[in-house]
Amino acid sequence: MTILNGKEIAADALAGCREQVQGLEARGVTPGLAVVIVGKDPASHVYVGSKVKTCADLGIYSRRIELPEETSQKEVLEVVAGLNADPSIHGILVQSPPPPHINEEEIIRLIDPDKDVDGFHPVNVGKLVMEDDSGFVPCTPQGCIQLLERAGIETSGANAVVIGRSMIVGKPMALLLMGRGINATVTVAHSRTKELAKVCREADILIPAIGKPEFVTADFVKEGAVVIDVGINRLEDSSRKSGYRLVGDVAYEEVAPKCRAITPVPGGVGPMTIAMLMSNTIKAARSSMDQAEGG
Ligand code: GUN
Repeated sequence: MTILNGKEIAADALAGCREQVQGLEARGVTPGLAVVIVGKDPASHVYVGSKVKTCADLGIYSRRIELPEETSQKEVLEVVAGLNADPSIHGILVQSPPPPHINEEEIIRLIDPDKDVDGFHPVNVGKLVMEDDSGFVPCTPQGCIQLLERAGIETSGANAVVIGRSMIVGKPMALLLMGRGINATVTVAHSRTKELAKVCREADILIPAIGKPEFVTADFVKEGAVVIDVGINRLEDSSRKSGYRLVGDVAYEEVAPKCRAITPVPGGVGPMTIAMLMSNTIKAARSSMDQAEGG
């Protein structure tokens, strides 16, 4: 059994990003990322902190915009419109989930597709469906694909089962897996799927993305499967200083011995997501530069 070390693989990807940032600097451009967070969800603040810190490590300019819980829809839209018009910002990310009174879809649709480094805007979703490389691919599924590729996992013809159909992970994950270059046979399972464990046992590659702590138990997993655990869930744990511990959607201890390879939580998909965000931001800066130079 191989533990797929996302931290190490992400560090490799980030080293490549650092070089690309230096290359852009030499051409007179510093990539810039704006991260907008509304409200005080503690996990979201931790993620945003990691994103901003990684920008600093790579020499990417970042702007963290923290808006209070009671911020109105109109105010968030105004912030996004300002970032769309700001030439020092190449990438815009609005951390999900926002507070319940915020209409996230309207905000996503306002983000300039050329700055949509999350890949959530309909233009980029469409480009993903069409396999048009000029768009942005959502960071978490893109990170999962890179984990598979860099770990040398054969995907062509493999049975892949994605659990979850979210716009952030499940749907784009399925599209990437079935795409040319990956060539998996894809099943998307969800909360209404009948005989879920049986469906999952068909998987050569199993990718749970449902946000349910330790939901996937050993009976969901075929001997020799590769498991990419997208879930990051907080479980109360009074023995920890923080008061919680992180677990995935997979019951790791019982599932790992059956696997050919598995990602840990933390240290699996999470670091890859951040690395892909950096890569998308660099891509956005490069495209804006090419456009400015008429290339
Ligand atoms: N919340 C969880 N994952 C993501 C992500 O990839 N992007 C944004 N904006 N919010 C998230």
